[in-house]
Amino acid sequence: MGRLLRTNAFRLAALYFALFAASVLALLAFIYFSTADFIERQTEATIDAEITGLREQYGDRGLPGLLEIVHARSTALHNNSSTLYLVTDAALNPIAGNLSSWPRARQIRPGWIGFPVEVRTRQGDVVESDALASVFVLHDGFRLLVGRDLRDASAFRSRITHTLGWSALLTLALGVAGGLFMTRNMLRRVEAVNRTSERIIRGDLTQRVPLTGSGDEFDQLAGNLNAMLDRIERLMLGMRQVTDNIAHDLRTPLSRLRARLEVTLLERPDAGRYGEALRETITEADRLLVTFNALLNIAEAEAGSRRETMGVVDLAEIARSVAELYEPVADEKGQSLTVDSDAVLPVQGDRHLLSQAIANLLDNALKYAPAGAIALHAHGADGTARLEVADSGPGVPADRREAVFDRFVRLEGSRSTPGNGLGLSLVRAVARLHGGEARLEDNNPGLKAVLTLPMADSRSLPATRNAA
Ligand SMILES: Nc1ncnc2c1ncn2[C@@H]1O[C@H](COP(=O)(O)OP(=O)(O)OP(=O)(O)O)[C@@H](O)[C@H]1O
Ligand SMILES: [Mg+2]
Repeated sequence: MGRLLRTNAFRLAALYFALFAASVLALLAFIYFSTADFIERQTEATIDAEITGLREQYGDRGLPGLLEIVHARSTALHNNSSTLYLVTDAALNPIAGNLSSWPRARQIRPGWIGFPVEVRTRQGDVVESDALASVFVLHDGFRLLVGRDLRDASAFRSRITHTLGWSALLTLALGVAGGLFMTRNMLRRVEAVNRTSERIIRGDLTQRVPLTGSGDEFDQLAGNLNAMLDRIERLMLGMRQVTDNIAHDLRTPLSRLRARLEVTLLERPDAGRYGEALRETITEADRLLVTFNALLNIAEAEAGSRRETMGVVDLAEIARSVAELYEPVADEKGQSLTVDSDAVLPVQGDRHLLSQAIANLLDNALKYAPAGAIALHAHGADGTARLEVADSGPGVPADRREAVFDRFVRLEGSRSTPGNGLGLSLVRAVARLHGGEARLEDNNPGLKAVLTLPMADSRSLPATRNAA
């Protein structure tokens, strides 16, 4: 409850309630006062009408006529009358009417007096009541008093007070109950978000904010939070995979390096031997760094953490610029590198990773097909971009064409050439990251490496492109 009082929702509800209560009370007060005023005017109008009538009679028929009428009206209404009459002489001695003596009156406002009067109820009891009256002075100091006892008016007024009081109470109670209910309801939803966040902070990233299915703004908020959490979880998972893979793949070469140093230390100290061991170690460390970078690239592509930053790129243009980089190497080795590509070949992708993959394929062709032509094709058809690197070298036997995509797999005949056996792994990881595939085919003779990627809409290509 204490916490409830401190919440914004509650304060807001309380403010609304205060405004609500104030307007309800103002409205009820207005009803009360205007009704009371109406009743009073009504009473006064009745008395006025009565006096006007009697004055006319007095004018027409003189004092005897007036006395006769007053007498008649007083007795006719005697038993249960709310109209009071009194005619007195100059000394205030009563002559006619249903009041026994001149009342102990006080002036209420000009022309109107109020006084207590004893009246008989329907049950025959005599009770004291307030009366309102007006006095008309006749000739010779005679006076005519006409009034009404306010029993009915005050009964009516008290009934109104009663009714309005209860309505006010009921409305306010409903307001309080409704406000509390709404606040509680709102708080419960916020509370759900809070509870989930707390669990996530404590380390359980699988927690999600429950939805009520109403589709209101709280559900939208929860949905967005959940989507955000999904994305964070995916990224975390990807990063964990990257670190796991790298740790796993580098453990063996690092242990080997360490073992070699240990063995060297076990031998008799010899400066020449130590120098050689250090040089070997440095070479190995360099190789490790290369491997490390290659693994990092593969792991990153596999984790898909770059997927969110991918835009539409031109695969044909990337292929041309990578080929340009490798032309000098081909020239040097006496190989020819020809490029044949569509003008533009839009794909949704990461420029850096795609360049890397094409470079790995060209690197293999240059490395394993020592002489002859290397052809790079990049064409699009039926919504698929197809990139091929074909050489006329020894090729890869059909039963090994899948295995060479695994990490660290190299064919027997390739041991003499430098390499880690990671190039094709990256090609495949990049292809899959882009929703495509990488495979090897027979080039009769030689090898044809094929990379297929889904094509993107060319209209989403940036208008100007700069060469890599
Ligand atoms: N064009 C090719 N012709 C013949 N064999 C190939 C060709 N490309 C790849 N291979 C075989 O597939 C193996 C794996 O290739 P991959 O590119 O994955 O590794 P690598 O070239 O040995 O090393 P890295 O690319 O990491 O420097 C190679 O060792 C080689 O035996
Ligand atoms: Mg390679």
